[in-house]
Amino acid sequence: MRKKKIIIGNWKMNPLSAKEAAKIFIPIKKTAGRLKKTETIVCPPFIYLKNFSEQKGKCLIGAQDVFWKDNGSFTGEISPLMLKSLPVSHVIIGHSERRALGENNEVVSKKISAAISAGLKMILCVGEKERPDEASHLNFVANQVKESLKGVSAKSAGNIIIAYEPVWAIGDGSKGPASPEDALEMSIFIKKVLTEIFGKKKADAVPILYGGSVDPGNAREFLEKGAMDGLLVGRESLNPKGFSDILRIAENV
Ligand code: PGA
Repeated sequence: MRKKKIIIGNWKMNPLSAKEAAKIFIPIKKTAGRLKKTETIVCPPFIYLKNFSEQKGKCLIGAQDVFWKDNGSFTGEISPLMLKSLPVSHVIIGHSERRALGENNEVVSKKISAAISAGLKMILCVGEKERPDEASHLNFVANQVKESLKGVSAKSAGNIIIAYEPVWAIGDGSKGPASPEDALEMSIFIKKVLTEIFGKKKADAVPILYGGSVDPGNAREFLEKGAMDGLLVGRESLNPKGFSDILRIAENV
């Protein structure tokens, strides 16, 4: 039987109130509840996590970031154990919007180790800012993967999902999505890097997702032509109709 597709909604810093958040979440939860071959993970801002985790139905709930210490004098931070206590099952680590605020591979690696110790599953985001020539984006992503997963043992590979998100394809000012062929090439390449780290069997089991301007119009081609294991959706995940359409597409590919 084929593996379940993984569809993740990254709500970023939206919406502005718990009431609006519920309005978006309830229809998504309904759609997710009817699916058998698709895993739905919704990642709202921290302040909505508790509420969502208490009424999540078949949806899984993820945070958008986490700190690397369990507790202590770290004003404004949220620890992996706090997330675990809600309970939240997943956390996005190393999103390009966090990297743009100064997060580097070393910080990402500390967060990954802390999340693993707490028993969280993580979505590690990688992706190049530009493609000036044929190969430098591959080297850039290989380096991100290797440095971010430094010290992670093969037995933890089952807790890792990798989202390939070329920075130039993300958000409002983007150039639009990558092509399914670009995503496929990069996912094969990431598998190769993972094989060097974890060995073939463990590496093969790590899902590779695509993210960057995904919408109901292009979701199918990333899953079929691009052979992606799933999608990380930003803007369209705040549109319950559009996100539900993406979930149904994933269920039927
Ligand atoms: P986008 O964002 O779908 O709005 O391009 C994707 C992401 O940042 O995860």
